[in-house]
Amino acid sequence: MKRILVTGGAGFIGVNYVHHMIEHSDSAITILDKMTYAANRQSLDLLPPSRVKLIVGDIADAVLVDELVSKHDVVVHFAAESHNDNSLHDPGVFVRTNVIGTFELLEAVRRHDVRFHHISTDEVYGDLALDDPQRFTETTPYNPSSPYSSTKASSDLLVRAWVRSFGINATLSNCSNNYGPFQHVEKFIPRQITNVLTGAKPKLYGDGTNVRDWIHVRDHSSAVQRIVEQGQSGHTYLIGADGEKNNKDVLRIILRLMGEAEDAFDHVIDRPGHDLRYAIDSTILRSELGWTPRYTDIESGLSQTIDWYSNHRTWWEPGKAKTENRYAQQLQMTSEAT
Ligand code: NAD
Ligand code: DAU
Repeated sequence: MKRILVTGGAGFIGVNYVHHMIEHSDSAITILDKMTYAANRQSLDLLPPSRVKLIVGDIADAVLVDELVSKHDVVVHFAAESHNDNSLHDPGVFVRTNVIGTFELLEAVRRHDVRFHHISTDEVYGDLALDDPQRFTETTPYNPSSPYSSTKASSDLLVRAWVRSFGINATLSNCSNNYGPFQHVEKFIPRQITNVLTGAKPKLYGDGTNVRDWIHVRDHSSAVQRIVEQGQSGHTYLIGADGEKNNKDVLRIILRLMGEAEDAFDHVIDRPGHDLRYAIDSTILRSELGWTPRYTDIESGLSQTIDWYSNHRTWWEPGKAKTENRYAQQLQMTSEAT
């Protein structure tokens, strides 16, 4: 039985991964999570206490991290400040968590010779033109645009350097946009679903032609399990499910599925520096490790996600007003600066 330390396991992708590992392995899991605004204790309710333990703490706390890492066989590192809009208004915490926090984990796995898997994003590669026939691959040069993506790129480079210089046993994965249950209402898809559920109009940035490469979070979890079990140290694996769609089309599908007119949304001021398009080529993960995504029908994935938010109002309602107030303040700051 493996002892896995999952950082950020009370956040969206981390908790989905913990649920996945409870179903698909006999591992014992410790979650290390600071329980920031992005975490939700209710997400842990259905996990078996005999196999999952929560430690509330900061990945940048060197003493705590050292002690926890020493007691585990594997660290799967999801913890991060993850939201681009926030990084434009308060970048400092992104540097502390995403860069310094990753550094502390790397030093601990080096001391204790523990297997490490680093969760990262396709945003480290910057963006693509809408008509570019290329997609991101493992060799695409790094070119991040936002404070968020530049701190994720920094953390990736630290991991690569710790493998090369100190020989730690580590893999990396860079995934495209996830959606599914337990995602914070600040993110595009849950924000629009919960806007409709609360009688507010969905908000589309700019003209809505920006493309994201959507993957269901369950497919991300199975890919991470495969890489942790079979990936080669020092290798980066791109995770994607061929789910490119522009924001306007995604929003129209959500509105239609929720019985609203497809144009019942507001256009709002665009995100500064807004990346135009992400697209992942996941050939290596599929051909070398034999992984295939299973939840690739975005309409049925969105329909199930709408059902999940409709049936879990107590999970998201307490944070909704706070999130919308934060958006209103950020919008005002952006308008004043432009
Ligand atoms: P999230 O914001 O939903 O969750 C992040 C979790 O990390 C929260 O539970 C939070 O409390 C915790 N955390 C934050 N700072 C911490 C700290 N200093 N110490 C300990 N815990 C801390 O994020 P997410 O969307 O689940 O993303 C998880 C990871 O996946 C991130 O590394 C992100 O960069 C990456 N990623 C996300 C996506 C996506 O579409 N959401 C896509 C690709 C990669
Ligand atoms: O590509 C992977 C990345 O995907 C992850 O690394 C990030 O952690 C994750 O947050 C996500 O980043 P994005 O910035 O792409 O996700 P977000 O949900 O914030 O926005 C998705 C798209 O929708 C983006 O083009 C901006 C747009 N958008 C977003 C919001 C919140 C809107 O049009 N309206 C909105 O209200």
